Amino acid sequence: MSYFDGKLKLIVASASGVEAVTKRELTDMGYEVGGAYYGRIPFEGNFRDLAKVNVSLRTANRVFVELFSFHAETFDELYDGISLFKFENLCSRDARIVVNAKSISSKLFALSSIQSICKKAIVTRLCDRYALPFLNETGATYAFEIFIDNDEVKVLLDTSGWGLHKRGYRNFVGEAPIRETLAASIINLSVWNKERALIDPFCGSGTIPIESALIATNTAPGINRAFAFEEFNGVNKKIIEEVREEARANINKDIKLRINAFDINPKTIKIAQKHAQNAGVSDYIHFQTADMRDLSSRYQYGVIITNPPYGERLMKENELRTLYRDFGKVFRSLNDWSAYVITSYPDFERCFGRKADKTRKLYNSELECVLYRYLGAKPPKKKE
Ligand SMILES: C[S@@+](CC[C@H](N)C(=O)[O-])C[C@H]1O[C@@H](n2cnc3c(N)ncnc32)[C@H](O)[C@@H]1O
Repeated sequence: MSYFDGKLKLIVASASGVEAVTKRELTDMGYEVGGAYYGRIPFEGNFRDLAKVNVSLRTANRVFVELFSFHAETFDELYDGISLFKFENLCSRDARIVVNAKSISSKLFALSSIQSICKKAIVTRLCDRYALPFLNETGATYAFEIFIDNDEVKVLLDTSGWGLHKRGYRNFVGEAPIRETLAASIINLSVWNKERALIDPFCGSGTIPIESALIATNTAPGINRAFAFEEFNGVNKKIIEEVREEARANINKDIKLRINAFDINPKTIKIAQKHAQNAGVSDYIHFQTADMRDLSSRYQYGVIITNPPYGERLMKENELRTLYRDFGKVFRSLNDWSAYVITSYPDFERCFGRKADKTRKLYNSELECVLYRYLGAKPPKKKE
């Protein structure tokens, strides 16, 4: 009997600003979710659900299992509380134990002390139950998160391993790439759907066009990567394979898309093409080396989704302002198009020459950015 055979309290963590998008992904998958706290969305499920959300969620960072919770105001109470849990039912005798901590409005707040005390409590319990002088930690990694909020300690187990933004297709480093999860969130927030043309004029390593093609073909983002939970003690590998098989069977390759990815740098375009091949979507994206200033389209009602250079490392401020100004002119020359632009440059709207009709604060890793939305006309309804 494995710990994962019963009902599990699953917690999906997503980045600040995209919780609502992740929540919608979960409800679209049929889950009934509870109220989000600090970017964490709880719901109940079983091991199959755990595998399914890890493989399928596009916008979440990680999936945890909440193991237990208790009240602690002192390090002694913390040690004792942790020691009570039957870690031997979860971890094998060669488990590698990693502990991270977060603390909000609590008496215990020194994170490195919280981490080392909890690790000591877990390792001591395992050594005791397995009658070992020490834990050699050569086996599967169990990464625990100790989340303390108002002196309530929640002990979570990370089931994802690498963050879910690591899909496995992006193996070359581009200049300032956008996180895959953030790209997917912006696409989900946009009006784009597979009937409309999409252009990323500053495509870099190809993340936005690739994530768009993955969404349109219904390709689960985690289909080709490994997860921490696969190595856990006694998990049912058959269920994991079934979940992957089901995800593969749901891919819809039989569609036509109008996704265009441009970049001024030919080397970058080569990298983006390689990434699209890795992701299995190169047939759906037209890549081309081009200056944004030469952009035009014969389509109406298309959508630009892009992450242009934002200065800092990439270019000087006066060049950046000119680039944004020219980008604004190009956008206004397109017929009934919408645009979604994410940048950390604070004076973007003035340079672009138009105030956005909606803005949203988002984070690209740690960098605070704003998503600017310029909504064009809706396409006419198709006649039945
Ligand atoms: C922030 S990066 C885009 C990163 C991309 N979203 C990714 O995930 O890799 C901006 C890109 O704009 C490109 N670029 C700069 N000036 C350009 C121009 N005038 N026309 C087209 N692309 C340009 C750069 O070569 C760079 O790849």
